[in-house]
Amino acid sequence: MADSIRWGILGAGGIAALVGPEIAAEPGNEVAAVGARDLGRATSLANAVGAPRAYGSYAELVADPDLDVVYIATAQGQHHDHALLALRAGKAVLVEKPFSLNARQAREVIAQARRRQLFCMEGMWMRVNPLIIRAQEIAASGRIGDLISVHADLSRRFDFDPKDRVYDLSLGGGALLELGVYPATFAWLFFGRPDTVQTIGALSPTGSDASDAMQWGYRDGRFAQISCSAAGTNPLTGLVAGTKGWISIGGRVHRAPFIIVHDESGDEELRQTIKGGGFDHEIAEVARCLRAGELESPLVPLDETIAILEVLDEARAQLGVRYAAD
Ligand SMILES: NC(=O)c1ccc[n+]([C@@H]2O[C@H](COP(=O)([O-])OP(=O)(O)OC[C@H]3O[C@@H](n4cnc5c(N)ncnc54)[C@H](OP(=O)(O)O)[C@@H]3O)[C@@H](O)[C@H]2O)c1
Repeated sequence: MADSIRWGILGAGGIAALVGPEIAAEPGNEVAAVGARDLGRATSLANAVGAPRAYGSYAELVADPDLDVVYIATAQGQHHDHALLALRAGKAVLVEKPFSLNARQAREVIAQARRRQLFCMEGMWMRVNPLIIRAQEIAASGRIGDLISVHADLSRRFDFDPKDRVYDLSLGGGALLELGVYPATFAWLFFGRPDTVQTIGALSPTGSDASDAMQWGYRDGRFAQISCSAAGTNPLTGLVAGTKGWISIGGRVHRAPFIIVHDESGDEELRQTIKGGGFDHEIAEVARCLRAGELESPLVPLDETIAILEVLDEARAQLGVRYAAD
């Protein structure tokens, strides 16, 4: 491995344009190449992030011998195929969230990575956010007592367009996969796999889910209320409640700049400065794992990526939202 972790970016869309410059700015990392369906677009992103090579196809990108990891930055409906393309070319992968459309696809990709002994991680950057990690530690310490419930939401308006990837089922459209995967993962971090899942929601004209509300139940009485919407926005975020207090997440649940811990002695606010878009911790975790020879991040375990998709599969089935890949 070279001194610097050499990244290839697969896809030159919105998230690639946000994360690419942060990779380039992160010490010990560089964007070595960008691949897109169109060479002009690949070149333009490559120029913006100082990458020396640009390719007009994904196949050329993954064949580049001088890459340590490929960042899969296409739409969710394509993550499975593009992650497999990179893994089969012998490349480690960071796969944007949601890792894939369903648990079956995730199992296939992860089995391929494990078979080939290649690093693989979901870009679930919330899980490497130091304050989200701190919130889990505080909850586990007993400071807010026995945990009772988790409440979490992520909603953001995407104007309806049947061809937009958030609404087009062939690209993996749907609020649950675009947004709900964050509050679902948040609930999972505190409570793990639910014993029961109840879902209600509203569908868009394409049949994708536009708004979702899930209730996760646990045999011991705990519960999680999880919601998301691509049709509108709201100020809800994340909250964990216990018998002696609560922890609330400040700002969006996936990008918390602060948390408030309320216990019997009052409120304590813990803050952090978010650098850029806040992707630095995720980039650093991938680089750390690659340097250490770890094939999986302990902060973003692959089995949990699969398990959370299993729950989302069940929720989608309850709403009647189906992808061709299901
Ligand atoms: N981590 C985060 O905070 C965050 C934020 C936003 C989005 N995301 C995730 O990032 C992924 C990409 O989202 P985005 O906002 O970057 O989407 P986008 O701007 O629509 O870009 C998607 C990319 O997919 C590629 N693509 C390949 N085949 C395509 C097809 N048939 N139709 C449309 N696109 C196709 C395109 O790559 P080419 O450049 O090769 O044409 C396009 O640039 C999604 O999985 C999303 O959930 C994550």
